[in-house]
Amino acid sequence: IESTLYFKHFEDKTVIVTAGPTSEPIDPVRYITNRSSGKMGFAIAKIAHFMGADVRLITGNTCLKTPYGVKRIDIETAEDMLKALKHELSKSKNEVILIMAAAIADFRPSETKDKKIKKKNENGFTLKLKQNPDLTIEIKRFAEKADIPLRIVGFAAETDNLIENAKKKIEKKGLEFIVANDVSRKDIAFGSDKNEVAIIYSNGRIERLEKASKDKIAYEILRRLI
Ligand code: CTP
Ligand code: CA
Repeated sequence: IESTLYFKHFEDKTVIVTAGPTSEPIDPVRYITNRSSGKMGFAIAKIAHFMGADVRLITGNTCLKTPYGVKRIDIETAEDMLKALKHELSKSKNEVILIMAAAIADFRPSETKDKKIKKKNENGFTLKLKQNPDLTIEIKRFAEKADIPLRIVGFAAETDNLIENAKKKIEKKGLEFIVANDVSRKDIAFGSDKNEVAIIYSNGRIERLEKASKDKIAYEILRRLI
């Protein structure tokens, strides 16, 4: 079945996909994370392979099976994800298309304790957080410095003002286009096998894709990069 779906659109391309959540450790047993299941990113990696690309999937913690033919790199933190991105990017000999489907934790604990934090009294405690760097901005700068041709597609996870909020991220992050997700809806996005998205281009054009399987949405996204 897989071979009948094989196209050659991306034969000379490396597609790097980030997927899933990042986990930011508080101590050896606890971490901060988010609701990303990784399904959208894994679907993109799978379909990109069918389309002939050399695919690298850099993923946070998920319970998903590695798609056939895809090289998977498991990471935990945003910092690990950035390291893996730089590593994969510098190794690539082709033009790279980067799809940032991961839900990267915006904040991490300012310090990680090396021993388990014990209960002391009933007051609880205050956890101090620090902002993570923007990986898309960092990796774009890295590629420019190293003269590596790179095209980037972003995702936007929004609960309100979907289009307006997503639009602002295109220029800020240097994206070709952004895929806007309404993560407040229970029937799509986080954890679901379906998604319904709007694709917003840097020139302001908006395309709405009707609700479909994440595989179909993945194909629609990749098709627009041919
Ligand atoms: N992203 C990133 N580095 C981060 C956070 C997010 O590269 N530290 C990427 C995501 O993978 C996604 C895009 O940026 O492709 C938008 O992510 P989103 O969480 O919607 O936007 P943020 O820039 O983090 O802004 P906010 O969460 O405050 O809306
Ligand atoms: Ca964010």
